Amino acid sequence: MRKLIVISAIALIAGIITLSFRPAPVKTNKYATLPKDSVGSAKAFMAVYRVLKSSRCMNCHPSGDAPLQGDDSHIHTMNVKRGIDGKGLYSVRCSNCHQAENVAGLHMPPGNPKWGLPPADMRMVFQGRTPRQLALQLLDPKQNGGRTKAQLIDHMANDDLVGWAWHPGDGRTLPPMTRQAFAAQVRLWIAKGAYAPSAKAK
Ligand code: HEC
Ligand code: HEC
Repeated sequence: MRKLIVISAIALIAGIITLSFRPAPVKTNKYATLPKDSVGSAKAFMAVYRVLKSSRCMNCHPSGDAPLQGDDSHIHTMNVKRGIDGKGLYSVRCSNCHQAENVAGLHMPPGNPKWGLPPADMRMVFQGRTPRQLALQLLDPKQNGGRTKAQLIDHMANDDLVGWAWHPGDGRTLPPMTRQAFAAQVRLWIAKGAYAPSAKAK
């Protein structure tokens, strides 16, 4: 019995020593690759998808040529249109109303220096896309603005127009997870092999 106690005590102390001398965790490379895992990768994309389809993102990634507004994603009032560069048609330019910053108050125009839709020759539509369609589209440089996977991660994690969605101004709901959690899911999706969910996923 005594022997057992002594052994357990030694084991406990050894354990504590090992734990306290454990090296600090190595900071994982932001673009690290993990073992390929089609199930885990597609699952991470489904979390990403929920953000992409939230009104804060989708309102600027519409299937038509007008932006959308509000949590119900109705068509932008005042006949606003994409135009060639995404920043408006003829004299109805986004910057006529949208400033570099949000204007305070309900129903006031939100703002960012880059405010606009994707251009007419690269429309980057999220609205109406299934998870599989959107995953494949995001990965295709011919449809994603010529981005590599690392650049795609950077855009989602660091671009300040994307970041606007998390401080959208009065009366607008936030995307369904924090930006940090969102960026982590984007990285996971790509690190595990950038798989698209099956055609049945929705
Ligand atoms: C104010 C309008 C606006 C909002 C809001 C917006 N985007 Fe975009 N987005 C754009 C424009 C314009 C481009 C094209 C510019 C570029 O390529 O850098 C773009 C490009 C992208 C791209 C790269 C192209 C692609 O489709 O692969 C991704 C990814 C993206 N946006 C994700 C998001 C996400 C995620 C959100 C919400 C958290 C969001 N966007 C919100 C306007 C917007
Ligand atoms: C005549 C003024 C005006 C012009 C021009 C204009 N907007 Fe707006 N926009 C507004 C106002 C005001 C709101 C806020 C409406 C509200 O919250 O009820 C708004 C809201 C939006 C929203 C909704 C944001 C959200 O997530 O709810 C988007 C997206 C948007 N505008 C995109 C654009 C784009 C892109 C252009 C140029 C192609 C543009 N707007 C041109 C006045 C304008």
